Amino acid sequence: PHFAPSWIYSFPKAKRTYFSYKGIFLPTVSYSEESLRYTENEFQLLDDDVVTTSYPKSGTNWMLEILGLIWHDGDPSWVQSTFMFDRSPWIESESGLKAALNYPPPRFLTTHLPFQLFPKSFLHSKCKIIYIMRNPKDVLVSHYHFAKCCKFYEEPGTMEELMEKFLNGNVVYGSWFDHVKGWMKLKERPNFFLITYEELQKDLRGSVEKICHFLGKELASHQLDAVVKNASFQIMKDNKMSNFSLVINMDHEKGKFMRKGICGDWKNHLTVAQSEHFDHVYQEKMQGVGVTFPWD
Ligand code: A3P
Repeated sequence: PHFAPSWIYSFPKAKRTYFSYKGIFLPTVSYSEESLRYTENEFQLLDDDVVTTSYPKSGTNWMLEILGLIWHDGDPSWVQSTFMFDRSPWIESESGLKAALNYPPPRFLTTHLPFQLFPKSFLHSKCKIIYIMRNPKDVLVSHYHFAKCCKFYEEPGTMEELMEKFLNGNVVYGSWFDHVKGWMKLKERPNFFLITYEELQKDLRGSVEKICHFLGKELASHQLDAVVKNASFQIMKDNKMSNFSLVINMDHEKGKFMRKGICGDWKNHLTVAQSEHFDHVYQEKMQGVGVTFPWD
C-alpha cells in the first residue's frame, strides 16, 4: 500500500503520557478512544488477513520481518524497501487503522491489543492469528530500555519501579498476565498459532517451517535458508526499514530498538530478590493456564 505513514513524519510534540481505555493504558500520542472503539466494534477482519499479535517487546517486529520474508519466498527486497508500519500496520493506532483500511488484501496486520479489545469481527472470520510471546522477565527488561528512548512511553524510572508497575499491569497495554491469559483462550482454534521468542531463538529454521505450514505456504530449502539469513538479528539490525532508526519519535542517542536480541538478559538486570518476587507473582497469576512455556 502506498500511503504516507503520517504519524512518523508529522509526529506531534512528543508526550510521555498514557490514557486509560477500558482499564488499559495506551500512549496519549497516536491513539484515541474513537479509533480504539472503531477497531473493536467496526473493523472487519477478512478471511485472508494474517494478524501478528503480541504483548509489546515480545519479538513482534522479528515476526513481522519473518512473515514478510516468507511471503516473498525469502527475497529480502520487500522488507528492505518498505517501512515496517506500512508492511503490517498496527490496527489500534490512529494512522495504523487508516492504513489497515486502505490495505489491499491479502493484508498483514499487527496489534498489541489484549483479546477483549480485539475486533469483534474475529468471531466470524477465518483470519490467521500468530501470537508471539516471550519470557516476561525479558519483556520487562526490553521495555525498560525501550521506554528510555521511545518518546511516547512513560519514563521507566528504576528497574524496581518499572517491575512493580509491570507486575500490577500499570504499564502500556496493561497486564502481561491478562494479555497472555486472554489470548490463550484461543489456543485450540485452527486459525490461531502460538509461538515464543525462545523457540525462534532456539530453532529459527524449524520455526519458519512451522509458520509456513500454518500459513499454507511452501518454501524450497534455499528459500527457507534465505528467510533465516535475512531475519537474523545482524541483518535486521542493518535494515533501516525495520530497525526503527528512521522513527523520529525515538531518542536514538538513548538506545536502540535492536538492542541485544537474546534470551535471558533479565539475569543481567534483576537482583535475586527481584527475580524471586517476580516468580512468586508469576506463579500466583498464571495458575491454571494449562500451558507450559519454555521459561517455566
Ligand atoms: P531486546 O530489547 O531484548 O534486545 P518488539 O518487536 O515486540 O518490540 O520486541 C523487541 C525485541 O525483539 C528487542 O529485544 C529486539 O532486540 C528483539 N528483536 C528484534 N529483532 C530481532 C531479531 N531479528 N532477532 C532477535 N531478536 C530480535
